[in-house]
Amino acid sequence: MREFLDVAIEAAREAGAILLSEFDRPPTITYKGEVDLVTQADRRSEDCVVTRLRANFPKHAIVGEESGGHAPQAESKGEQPPRFCWYVDPLDGTTNFAHGYPCWAVSIALVENDEPIVGVVFNPIAREMFTAVRGEGAWLDQKPIHVSKIDRLAISLLGTGFPTHKRVQNPNIHYYWRFTLSSHGVRRDGSAALDMCSVACGRFDGFWEFGLKPWDTAAGTLIVREAGGRVTNFAGRPYQPGERECLASNGLIHEEMRALALDIAERSPAQSGS
Ligand code: IPD
Ligand code: CA
Ligand code: CA
Repeated sequence: MREFLDVAIEAAREAGAILLSEFDRPPTITYKGEVDLVTQADRRSEDCVVTRLRANFPKHAIVGEESGGHAPQAESKGEQPPRFCWYVDPLDGTTNFAHGYPCWAVSIALVENDEPIVGVVFNPIAREMFTAVRGEGAWLDQKPIHVSKIDRLAISLLGTGFPTHKRVQNPNIHYYWRFTLSSHGVRRDGSAALDMCSVACGRFDGFWEFGLKPWDTAAGTLIVREAGGRVTNFAGRPYQPGERECLASNGLIHEEMRALALDIAERSPAQSGS
């Protein structure tokens, strides 16, 4: 497991250096769809991470946000689907990056049979490296981290996010309103991977979002769980990276957050996230 973690950390550092150099110049932006932008930095960062992972683990599958799925190089005919798959978000927080707002990260996770087993989220601006290994713990710059001890929603600080595209179809503004009135506040930082790390190290007490992809959450999910927190959907089922609702918390305010979310959905089914 240590080898997987070490390579992921190296890849994240290398990609982080590329992103920092790109952050200093005006971005070259293209659009995937309505308001879903991608910069040259996303592509260069992803090439860097995928190249390093392929060189070290030719039998593993890789799914990168920008380049899609890469089958294992060493695949032989009749072999079972690969046991290990890496999920790579080469730049989580592209909108922030393109506007010069310094809140973005590289997120890399190794998943074995749908369970994240290694997670790395690197914030190059703050020089913060969040890591986790299943069953071994979570760390920020090699120091163990733990979720907060806040046990009431009313005194909690929360995070959430909104999709960059299809925003009109997303009900989150209603959740944002109710959670804001029920807590110390809701931050919208623009990087789901960093939001989840903020829960893991106790800066946030909870986080939710609709419609995230596996590369956004696979690493963060493991980091939160290994820091003692809980990650589920609003029904309370353990969250699988890529499913529609993601609710991460310190565990202590989890049921209160779930109850409020269910109340919002019940009062106005049209506002439900599912
Ligand atoms: C986005 C960020 C943002 C979240 C969006 C994601 P990207 O990822 O994580 O915080 O609210 O839903 O798409 O596009 O910057 O990699
Ligand atoms: Ca992302
Ligand atoms: Ca991205």
